[in-house]
Amino acid sequence: MKILTIIGARPQFIKAAVFSKVVKKYNDIEEVIIHTGQHYDKNMSQIFFDELDIPKPKYNLHINGGSHAQQTGRMLIELEKIFLEEKPNFILVYGDTNSTLAGALAGSKIHIPIIHIEAGFRSHDKEMPEEINRICTDHMSSLLFCPTKEAVNELKKEGITQGVHFVGDIMYDAVKDFSNTQTNILEKYSLEKEKYIYCTIHRAQNTDSKEKLQNIFDALVKSDEQIIIPLHPRTRKKLEEFKLFSKYENKNILFLEPINYFESLELTKNAKKIVTDSGGVLREAYFLQKTCIVVRDSIEFVEMIKDEEGILVGSDKEKIITAIKEFKAKGEFKNYFGNATTAKQIVKVLRR
Ligand code: UD1
Repeated sequence: MKILTIIGARPQFIKAAVFSKVVKKYNDIEEVIIHTGQHYDKNMSQIFFDELDIPKPKYNLHINGGSHAQQTGRMLIELEKIFLEEKPNFILVYGDTNSTLAGALAGSKIHIPIIHIEAGFRSHDKEMPEEINRICTDHMSSLLFCPTKEAVNELKKEGITQGVHFVGDIMYDAVKDFSNTQTNILEKYSLEKEKYIYCTIHRAQNTDSKEKLQNIFDALVKSDEQIIIPLHPRTRKKLEEFKLFSKYENKNILFLEPINYFESLELTKNAKKIVTDSGGVLREAYFLQKTCIVVRDSIEFVEMIKDEEGILVGSDKEKIITAIKEFKAKGEFKNYFGNATTAKQIVKVLRR
């Protein structure tokens, strides 16, 4: 069986590391990796391949930047050529990025079955490019691997019941595999356990509006906590473009370049609280049983909010400040994500 895996953005490298490690054990599966190039800075891409031991992609399309249509369109054209040449049995895509959508669309149009890992997540906010990518990808997929039972339900509501499997979250496998890897990030920045807030902000809805970006960073400053934030290239670019960077420098916020996965897990594990708009970081916070403040208006992992293990604050300055000061996770952290054997279960289904 030959699988063509499409990856392109940071969270997909992490998921691919876990899945490819399991696939490598089986001689009857050949996996060919295509990197679209969506993320390309060394700290956003190569570092993950080096440190997580991901097989070298056979193709790198170097497609990045531009509008959504330009990025996705260029990917479609290049991916189709490779699909026709490689003639895989399956195309495998992860999550909700433009690379996910391009892989699913190019493949399904030439009748190659699509495997979607992380199927069924919904935020019900179509303003998010990711939500459009998820919905379209799920409707084009033949095998849909869901991280939660809620995700299975969401698919059912949209009439998708064939080929759907609840296998748990592959990000949970990754956290179990890698969260005990020691790094020196705490010493490097003189951080004390449980005394800092780990923050990540990168979603277009937050970064592309000056007002929202200002609300978020004003709140971080006003919180008077020690904040550590590795800056996504988009966020850095926007802070500079809006001439906001100097306003927040030399305050209580420590700005870093993007960090590696082990460092991110270590910062999460030891933080007092997490403030994020990332769907990956908020789940990692949950797996590591941390209080999480979600700087978004909607969320795919609704269970976290219902159970009061996390709080949705949007980009409202006062709500962010109050949550940083007062909100604390209830602390039960029920298990919605399976038992960290997601990659194994997916491979089992594929071989069957
Ligand atoms: C993408 C995904 C999002 C995922 C996120 C993880 C889509 C629509 N969104 O958003 O679901 O959570 O990745 O990070 O696919 N850039 C650099 N260097 C890099 C990478 C990006 O400068 O290494 C720049 C790009 O040129 C662009 C901006 O950052 O201007 C945003 O990149 P983009 O590819 O749109 O994706 P993300 O915002 O990272």
